[in-house]
Amino acid sequence: MRAIILAMYKTQLQENMPALTAALFELYGSRWDFYLILERLEKILAAADKERSSVLKKLDDDFLSSQKKGGGAWFLSNKSLGTMLYVDLFSDNLKGLASKIKYFKELGINYVHLMPLFKTLKGDNDGGYAVSSYREVQKKLGSMADLKALAAAFRKEGIHTVIDFVFNHTSSEHEWAKKALKGDKKYRDFYYIFKDKADADEWNKSLREIFPSVRRGSFTYFKEADGWVWTTFNSFQWDLNYSNPEVFLAMVQEMLFLANAGIEVLRLDALAFVWKEKGTACESLPKAYTLIKAFSLAAKIAAPSLVFKSEAIVHPDQVVKYIGQDKCRLSYNPLQMALFWSSLASRDARLLTLSMKKRWAIPDGCAWVNYIRCHDDIGWTFSDEDAWSLGINPYEHRKFLNRFYTGRFEGSFARGEAFQENPTTGDCRVCGTMASLAGLEEALDKNDQLLKDMAVARVRMLYGLLFALPGLPLLYAGDEEAMLNDYSYKKNPKLSGDSRWVHRVKKDWNKKLLPEQKTVRDMIKRMAKIRAQEKLFAGSQVWFYDQQQPQVFAFCRSETIHVAANFSERRVPFYVWANKGGVLTDLLSGKQVRAQEQIQLEPYEILWLKEEAQGSPALAK
Ligand code: GLC
Repeated sequence: MRAIILAMYKTQLQENMPALTAALFELYGSRWDFYLILERLEKILAAADKERSSVLKKLDDDFLSSQKKGGGAWFLSNKSLGTMLYVDLFSDNLKGLASKIKYFKELGINYVHLMPLFKTLKGDNDGGYAVSSYREVQKKLGSMADLKALAAAFRKEGIHTVIDFVFNHTSSEHEWAKKALKGDKKYRDFYYIFKDKADADEWNKSLREIFPSVRRGSFTYFKEADGWVWTTFNSFQWDLNYSNPEVFLAMVQEMLFLANAGIEVLRLDALAFVWKEKGTACESLPKAYTLIKAFSLAAKIAAPSLVFKSEAIVHPDQVVKYIGQDKCRLSYNPLQMALFWSSLASRDARLLTLSMKKRWAIPDGCAWVNYIRCHDDIGWTFSDEDAWSLGINPYEHRKFLNRFYTGRFEGSFARGEAFQENPTTGDCRVCGTMASLAGLEEALDKNDQLLKDMAVARVRMLYGLLFALPGLPLLYAGDEEAMLNDYSYKKNPKLSGDSRWVHRVKKDWNKKLLPEQKTVRDMIKRMAKIRAQEKLFAGSQVWFYDQQQPQVFAFCRSETIHVAANFSERRVPFYVWANKGGVLTDLLSGKQVRAQEQIQLEPYEILWLKEEAQGSPALAK
């Protein structure tokens, strides 16, 4: 075994270096020092390999052999379930988190994404997405040693540790930025800094505004830097300049440092923005994909079990391009997420059905990370063409959704807040917890039992779909207990400008759950359990039903489990296209129905109808 592990680096190098060289040639091939860059990269990879512990190398070896044997990676299993959390809001610090392993195990969770935890700015720091050092944990959360210990404790329990790789930008207080501010030429070139405003204006002409309520355009003037710094997001988040290979080399070292600390999945933050070319929107450019490939191939050589997860909340045509065995093997599924909410508001699942039919397919060995809510806002990233093809005006529909979810549409059940309203385009996004957006907050305020039941039914239906789809379901911590919006952020001047804090809620371990919250928690546990026990939910096989009624979204897993959901509060008919005939049993409720027959779906009902083997018992009367 030792010998195999020793040989692993060499094998991985031989297998991946040709493709890595080709990718880098595309990015930096015109430079006279291209071969020197390659040589330096090889040294960085070899040094990282040397530092990698034998425990992690064993993990690499297991990962690679399971792939060779044709076994699916762990994230393709029906037993995989993820959660994402802020360490301070969930358990105060990393040591506290280690003591919550039992909680995760009870829910069946084996993937824990820790939101940004590295050194950051005091005051507003975009929830830690402004990193001042990739090697120092925020003091209030613990230390690097705590993070390593946590990852090791997780690993022993079969839990994979996930963190962000915030590689599009550093904070304005990262040592590279500080040196740039002092005029150090080497580090000025790590960023995009223009002395002349006209240069910044020229780039601005073709850029989309991402955080328009922070500042118009994408540049911020820093007197100390004597220039305009590219800041796609907040002014304290400085975009890195990857056209400079020094930046790539430096960030590869940071990436491998994290991998060697025991991190198994890196969520590539804001990856659509990493490559910039004048006259373009500087989003999802072909070289952005190449750059991701280069990072991924470097990881394959020095930390082969490291997996990338893509955070591309962009047009679905672009989202899919980041996914692949040699890029990101995992990707958020923002289309599924947004269209669940869209269907819920409009009681119309046609756009969801069409989009899933057309856009579900991704390369083998990769998986969608399906989700309902996360720490960010909901952006309506569906394709305009798809909407038009159904006669839906995408602009009007987005406007409707924003109004529906931010309390500006009469009769809406949702309680949410607007995020980054653009005064020029009128565009905006939506914030709120799953329960508040699904109507529970309003129902509790009105103390109306029918409304409470409806809200719980909506939540049940959404989770029922999430757990039945192929891919890795991701729970945003707190949503498993139907937490409600927390408006206290408005009183905190550090947070009040960012409505995403409405759904970033501190967990109170001593608080008694409301009956509806308990129902949701128990329901999730049950669904997760059934999913984990049912092998037919493994893998990626799915077939989406043709639309029967606008309100119904339905699909079939492994040609045997028919999942149907009614996105409305009316009864609607549904015809079960069973393959084998006979009787089908709903795995969630035990209810039985006959194959090839029309049934009625109750308001917000979700069914997991499993076909029995041929000759199954007759339908119970
Ligand atoms: C990603 C994060 C978001 C953050 C942004 C800038 O989109 O999810 O929270 O504001 O990147 O880092």
